[in-house]
Amino acid sequence: MAAVVLVGAQWGDEGKGKLTDYLTEKADMVVRYQGGNNAGHTVVVGTEEYKLHLIPSGILYDNKVCVIGNGVVLDPAILLEEIHSLTQRIGKHARLLISSNAHVIMPYHRLLDQLQEQSLGEAKIGTTGRGIGPAYMDKTARTGIRVSDLIDPELFAEKLKNNLAGKNLVLTKIFAVPPLEYEEIYQEYLTYADELRPFVTDTSLEISKYIRAERRILFEGAQGILLDLDHGTYPYVTSSHPTAGGACVGAGIGPSCIQRVLGVAKAYTTRVGEGPFPTELTDEVGDLLRRNGREFGTTTGRARRCGWFDSVIARYSGRVSGISDFAVTKLDVLSGFERLKICVAYQYQGERIEEFPQSQKIFAQCEPMYEELPGWQEDLTQIQRFEDLPVAAQAYIQRMEELTGIPVSIVTIGPEREQTLIRHSLF
Ligand code: GDP
Ligand code: IMO
Ligand code: MG
Repeated sequence: MAAVVLVGAQWGDEGKGKLTDYLTEKADMVVRYQGGNNAGHTVVVGTEEYKLHLIPSGILYDNKVCVIGNGVVLDPAILLEEIHSLTQRIGKHARLLISSNAHVIMPYHRLLDQLQEQSLGEAKIGTTGRGIGPAYMDKTARTGIRVSDLIDPELFAEKLKNNLAGKNLVLTKIFAVPPLEYEEIYQEYLTYADELRPFVTDTSLEISKYIRAERRILFEGAQGILLDLDHGTYPYVTSSHPTAGGACVGAGIGPSCIQRVLGVAKAYTTRVGEGPFPTELTDEVGDLLRRNGREFGTTTGRARRCGWFDSVIARYSGRVSGISDFAVTKLDVLSGFERLKICVAYQYQGERIEEFPQSQKIFAQCEPMYEELPGWQEDLTQIQRFEDLPVAAQAYIQRMEELTGIPVSIVTIGPEREQTLIRHSLF
């Protein structure tokens, strides 16, 4: 039995897609367990680049199974577009299974997401506008529409009518926008239902069969631990649980099934959207990281905020997700700096803080305390073994290990599959 949960250890976009694709070679099944098409996971194979939003990043292998678990919120139009585009580009791909318990993103969710953001003004969260928050709100309010409802035309009609009655009140009375038409949505979603029906199943049961047969399963987190609803920088978070624990609830497995948790962290830090970010660089160094790392959002195209590596949040992520191994990505982007900085602690009102503070008011006022390390000038992108990295690059990774107390088992030095240095194998 080998199940690995892969999680983003910062604020998302750490390179989870690339690593999931890489690790899928040795896995049998890949499972997405939370989030929706707010995610944008990039996989590069040769000259081809794939941007996946809902489909697990193991999809490019034709002999694997990819699962969209119950914890995901699913926009059917986006999913079908992704399926069609992949079939066109690569022909046969991995088998896809969709949980009948996943919740469906409806047009009113997208609309409400955007209207809520507008109404927040300066206090906006900077969401992706994909309807993620409102869809999870309906799920917890116990009014949401599940995939199993969508594929049952009668049940769907009833649930849509009930939902729309309430949503139209909010749209017209609170946001003063026109109501949405029932018939239009019903017909549109019926066509999606017909196309999706063959993929829908009890995915928890399918996963359990793989677990019992001791096959290898990779759980692909979306977003990052600092965007977790409970453990992230609330309220500047997403509405799901990107932490490793989210894999249990979002896939329908128990914690005893999980052997390893791989935390994916960039060699520096980025964040999209609003919210505190102690090591953010708003100067030319930040611009350089953005340029060299091509830090523009996969989903919304927004420029990502960039800063130095923050070992306080990496240590915290290690704690709340039980990370057993780190994968450090984009080390190649740090080539060319004279000196590099790592945040080792925060300063708050003259005091040194070593742990991520519980109060977001305090976190927003924390100043990073840096340690400087020598940089390196060499291009890393063609290196084949960790031991062949410049001494300063190896020392940088070793310092990350010391500061987090967690081994760095994988280092990546470029977007392609081959640009991956394995120090300890996971499967
Ligand atoms: P995800 O959301 O965690 O899957 O990450 P994204 O795909 O949104 O963003 C990561 C970006 O970095 C993508 O464009 C990847 O192709 C790219 N990438 C991944 N690993 C590396 C690496 O080691 N070096 C460089 N230069 N780019 C990388
Ligand atoms: P991947 O999986 C980076 C951020 C948004 C916003 C906050 C809430 O590619 O790493 P939401 O639309 O989820 O309600 O937005 O979360 N966010 C991400 N940032 N990578 C992502 O996904 C993200 N998904 C959501 O920018 O700040
Ligand atoms: Mg991304």
